[in-house]
Amino acid sequence: MPMMKRAWPLAALSAVIFLLGVSGFAAAQTTQSPLAAYMLLGPNGTRIARVITEVKDCPALFVDGHVVEMQVRSAAGIAAQRQTASRAELSKASAFPATTCEAAIPSDARQVSVHGWLLPLPPKTIRKIVVIGDTGCRIKAADNAVQSCNDAKAYPFATVASAAAAWKPDIVLHVGDYLYRENACPEGVAGCQGSPWGYGLDAWRADFFNPAAPLLKAAPWVMVRGNHESCNRAGQGWRRFFDPYPLTPERTCDVSEEDLSGNFTDPFAVPLGKGAQIVVWDTSDAGNKPFAQDDPRIGVYLANVRSIASLTRAQPHTILANHQPVLAIAGSRDKDGNVKLGPGNSSLAEILAGIDPKLFPSGIDLLLSGHVHVWEQLSFAGLYPSQFVTGFSGTQEDSVPLPESLPANFSLMHGAVPDAFSSWIDGFGFMTLERTGAADWSVEIHDTQGKVVERCTVKGRISKCRTRQVHAG
Ligand SMILES: [Fe+2]
Repeated sequence: MPMMKRAWPLAALSAVIFLLGVSGFAAAQTTQSPLAAYMLLGPNGTRIARVITEVKDCPALFVDGHVVEMQVRSAAGIAAQRQTASRAELSKASAFPATTCEAAIPSDARQVSVHGWLLPLPPKTIRKIVVIGDTGCRIKAADNAVQSCNDAKAYPFATVASAAAAWKPDIVLHVGDYLYRENACPEGVAGCQGSPWGYGLDAWRADFFNPAAPLLKAAPWVMVRGNHESCNRAGQGWRRFFDPYPLTPERTCDVSEEDLSGNFTDPFAVPLGKGAQIVVWDTSDAGNKPFAQDDPRIGVYLANVRSIASLTRAQPHTILANHQPVLAIAGSRDKDGNVKLGPGNSSLAEILAGIDPKLFPSGIDLLLSGHVHVWEQLSFAGLYPSQFVTGFSGTQEDSVPLPESLPANFSLMHGAVPDAFSSWIDGFGFMTLERTGAADWSVEIHDTQGKVVERCTVKGRISKCRTRQVHAG
């Protein structure tokens, strides 16, 4: 991929605009840099440039030396106050004092820039993938949970993002849950004093755009929506910034009566080249408990699963990315303090089983998810895809430990018995996938500094890791 060596000075940009004789791009001549500029990969691998700017009009984008007009995706404004996951007195309307702009980038474009910032493009064949998840700093009144957002050790997402960028990925996959600063930092708690809160742009900047900046520059992103981005939480920002589809009024999450539209997204595929693809599934509104029989979400999720099966047929090797892991283990404690092992996500497993008793189409080899705040890997002797969980990239880690070995006869949803299980329960970091064959990947687990603490291999549906449980120094 050809890269511009350094940012263009603003004077040079203005001169280029003048020489090109471009009219109608008044905003292009502003000297105000955008708050963020990044590249998303959307349905069928479409490249989507997004820019967030405090200027009313969208800036000009330069694509291979030509000026491309960006469209306003959402204008600056204060979104309607809506019912949120928090009590009314702990909620507020979400302010977005910035314009979100977008432009579709041709698949043969070689260089894209805005205000002298180069936007990354993917290579033709994608071989190196950074996988992160659960990256926000938790401030949640209902759980009395407060993470020290101002302490880079207690909340290390910025460090993780820098180290992941240094690995030089072709693309980044985020498996969901970006915004956790839902309520005000309690008085007297030094670790989070001064933090913005709620679901507006200020909270998005603190929890995502600022710490993620080096990784947004490093590569295009495939973004999965987590339950923290459902309509009654950070859905309004999710739709403005990261949803790859057009922003239509019923999908804005502004009105709770339209949540059945706002909480769902058609699954889409991002080709990786040479017979592989990632399929993205928005399961942000699926809880962990089985749905009631008359729950209207059942029909939408069943349609999603049929669509996933259809997408899967386009390539021999599919990675399915969604937020809540169907086939992973989460620890909890009963009232006597004993550790209980949760056997995966029952609501999604029931939906999948409603279409296929084997849960997943045979073309799906690998499941990538987050939600559980640990790293873990499970393999099922090829009967099911391997499941990896990467909910360990910034949000407070789970406090209930997972065992080094699973109890005898332990099974997950629908009797899925893991024959390999590895975990890292007390450390932050990121995972990398490097393609080594048609359906094969070399997997590394990195700590916050990028040091490799675990290595695994994926061969089709089978995965193996070196150690049962990581205990990084
Ligand atoms: Fe989650």
